[in-house]
Amino acid sequence: MPQTSHPPGLTTLFFTEMWERFSYYGMRAILVLFMVAPAGSGGMGFDTKQAASLYGTYTMMVYLLAVPGGFIADRYLGASRAVLTGGVIIALGQFLLAVHALPFFYTGLALIAIGTGLLKPNISTMVGALYGKDDPRRDSGFSIFYMGINVGAVLAPLVCGWLAESKTFQQFLSDRGMDPAASWHWGFASAGVGMLLGLGVYLMRWGTLPDSGHRKKGAGKREQAHPEWTASDTRRVMAIGILFAFTILFWAAYEQKGASLNLFAKQLVSTEVAGFSFPASWLQSLTPFYVILLAPVFARLWIRLGERQPGGPRKFALGLLSIGFAMCLLVPASAMTGEGKISPLWLAAVYLFDVIGELCLSPVGLSMVTKLSPPQVVGVMMGAWFFATSLGNKLAGYISGFFVADEPGTLMALYGSLGAGLLIAAALLGWLGPRIEGMTSSKQP
Ligand code: PHE
Repeated sequence: MPQTSHPPGLTTLFFTEMWERFSYYGMRAILVLFMVAPAGSGGMGFDTKQAASLYGTYTMMVYLLAVPGGFIADRYLGASRAVLTGGVIIALGQFLLAVHALPFFYTGLALIAIGTGLLKPNISTMVGALYGKDDPRRDSGFSIFYMGINVGAVLAPLVCGWLAESKTFQQFLSDRGMDPAASWHWGFASAGVGMLLGLGVYLMRWGTLPDSGHRKKGAGKREQAHPEWTASDTRRVMAIGILFAFTILFWAAYEQKGASLNLFAKQLVSTEVAGFSFPASWLQSLTPFYVILLAPVFARLWIRLGERQPGGPRKFALGLLSIGFAMCLLVPASAMTGEGKISPLWLAAVYLFDVIGELCLSPVGLSMVTKLSPPQVVGVMMGAWFFATSLGNKLAGYISGFFVADEPGTLMALYGSLGAGLLIAAALLGWLGPRIEGMTSSKQP
C-alpha cells in the first residue's frame, strides 16, 4: 500500500491502475471460456481454434496499441488526459460486452484494446513523473505500483469469474426471473464497474497527478546531455533487440494461462476442494498472488547478491528456464488427464514456475530499457518492449488453438514441444549472455 512518504499522486495512480487491471484481467479470465461455451449456456459457441485465435489477436492489439498510445500522449493529449480518455473508452467497451450480440462483442473488444493502449503505457510514465530522476524513492514507488497491478489481477477473477461461472449466481438469477445463461454478461459488466471505480478515484484525486508536461521537459534535457549517436549506442540497441526476441517466446508460454490453460482448468482439472467447488477462472488469481508474495523476495535476493548477481541476459535465461520447466510439468499432468480430472495442485505448481520466470525477466526488462537504452530512443525502446509482448500474446493464442481436451497425447506433444523450445532458448541465451553483456558494456540493470 502507498505510504505517506511517497507523493500523494502515487495513491491515485495505484488505485486507478488496480481497477484498470481488475477490469482487464477480470474480463480476460472469462473471455475464452465464454467464447467456447455452447450457445445454449449463453456462450458464443466458437470452436477452440477460433476462440484461441481471437484471444491472441485481442491481447496482441491491447499491447500493440500501447505504442501509438504513448505517442498520442507525448504529442497531443499529455499523459494525464490520455489515461482519462483510455479509461472511459475501456469502460464503454466492457459495458458493450455485457450485451449478448456479435457486433457488440467485437466492438467491445476493439474499444478495450484502444482504451488500454491509451491508458497502460501512460499511467506508468506518470508514476515515473512523480519522482525526480535521482529520487531514491523511485524504485520503491514502482514496486508499490506493481503491487497495485497485481492486487487488481488477484481480485478480478474472483469477482468476474464467480458471476460468470458459478452455479450459485446462476441460481440467484433464475430465482429472480432472469436468464441464468446471461451470467457471462454480468461478469463483463462487473469488469466495467471496476473501470468506473478506477475513473472515480482518478478524477476525485486529479489534483494530485503529476504535471503532464513533465515528460517533454525531461526529454529535452536528455537530448542535450546526449547529443551524439555512437557505435556503443548501436551495440546496446542491438543487444536489447536480441533479448526482446527471446521475450516473445516467454510471453507466448506465459499467456497460455488466459487461453489453453484456462480451458485446461475448466475441462480437465477438478475444481472442488474439500467439498467446495470453485469456478475454473479462479485459478487465474494464482499468478498475481504469487507475484505479490515473491516480488519482494526477488528484490531482496538481487540486493543480497549485489555484484555476484547474474547480468540482465542471464536473468532472462533463468526466466526462460523456469517457464520451460513449468511447460514440461504439463506433460505428466496432461498424461494423467486420460484417467479423469487431475488435482488443481498441478496448475498451482505450473503457475508458480511461470511467476518465478516472470520475476527474472519482466522487471529486469523494464529496468534495462530505461537504463541501457540510449536516452534519445528510450520511448521507442519502450514501444519495442510492448511490441515484443504483443507478438508473444498473439503466439500464445496461436499455440492455444492446438488444445484438444480429450486427447492427452496431443496435449503432451503441445506442452512438451513448447517446454523443449523454451529450454533450448534458455540454453542458447545462457551461452550468449556474457557476449550480450559485453555488447552493453555497462553494469547489469
Ligand atoms: N502483469 C503485467 C501487467 O499486467 C503483465 C505485463 C507485462 C503487461 C509486460 C504488459 C507488459 O502489467
